[in-house]
Amino acid sequence: MAQGVDEQQVDERAVARAAEALRAGELVILPTETVYGLAADAANPDAVARLYEAKGRPSFNPLIAHVADLDAAQRVAVFDERARRLAHRFWPGPLTLVLPIRVPAQVSDLARAGLDTVAVRAPAHPIARALLAAFGGPVAAPSANRSGRPSPTTFDAALEETGAAAAAALDGGSCRVGLESTVVALLDAPRLLRPGAVTRAEIEAEIGPLAEAEADAKRSPGRLARHYAPNAPVRLNAAAPEPGEAFLGFGPGHAGPLNLSAAGDLREAAANLFAHLRAADATRPRAIAVAPIPEEGLGEAINDRLRRAAGFVG
Ligand code: TXA
Ligand code: MG
Repeated sequence: MAQGVDEQQVDERAVARAAEALRAGELVILPTETVYGLAADAANPDAVARLYEAKGRPSFNPLIAHVADLDAAQRVAVFDERARRLAHRFWPGPLTLVLPIRVPAQVSDLARAGLDTVAVRAPAHPIARALLAAFGGPVAAPSANRSGRPSPTTFDAALEETGAAAAAALDGGSCRVGLESTVVALLDAPRLLRPGAVTRAEIEAEIGPLAEAEADAKRSPGRLARHYAPNAPVRLNAAAPEPGEAFLGFGPGHAGPLNLSAAGDLREAAANLFAHLRAADATRPRAIAVAPIPEEGLGEAINDRLRRAAGFVG
């Protein structure tokens, strides 16, 4: 299982240098509890443009503004009662809220992809919190992978993806959660735009039923087909590998080097998912076959990423 780093000492001097790089419009590799991010000053359109370029990301895909806490978030976005409830319950942590923008200049048009809404999240990782405190303003940070590739969950994977574009890189070890944050829009009816580390059931327990995300890709542009994809094709719901295939098992029935969780534990599987996809891909297999994952709790987010890796979600 991925190691937590909550007890890890924060290197304050490295954090101060990284904050300085952000102020200078440079990019920073940033650990969070979910996945590694590639960070930029959200208010600086040049820095954000550099970020899109480093990721090779279509510029219509808006970014999350990372903030230190609820107070900072409320300076950027307009919170209603439901949003405050969710923030109190899950922040700092792996939940992103899409809300009306309050002060457009704080998160540049480019970071919002021209929308009048903004995605905000207060991450829990101690190094991310230290950087946000040192920097003082909202930080745009998409996952540090190049667009369409699996999100990095280790420092080395982050460096390999977009490290060349970063002026500073903060090592926070392996990401505890291993899956991106859950994205919930609170614009009209609450909507689940991206299943993630906080489960649907946990959110519904706070604010009631979640509507499905619309198929309209403009409202939830993160939901692109073939996303999070390794180089090899991905075959889902596989009972066993075929010749030439790498295999990601799940549960006690599967021997082999890459079991997402031999215990059948969904939290462990989420933490291992992207690192195992990368490890399987590195063996240059004909395809990566993946055992069935139950569609419950965190399984919804795991299966969402796997379907995208396989190119099945439109
Ligand atoms: O766990 C995470 O959220 C990681 C870490 C680094 O914090 N970040 C991350 O960012 O996954 P990114 O940029 O890869 O994903 C942001 C998601 C996308 O699905 C995007 O479409 C959605 O949030 N999003 C951002 N702003 C939005 C908005 N105004 N309306 C709707 N969706 C939005
Ligand atoms: Mg991403």
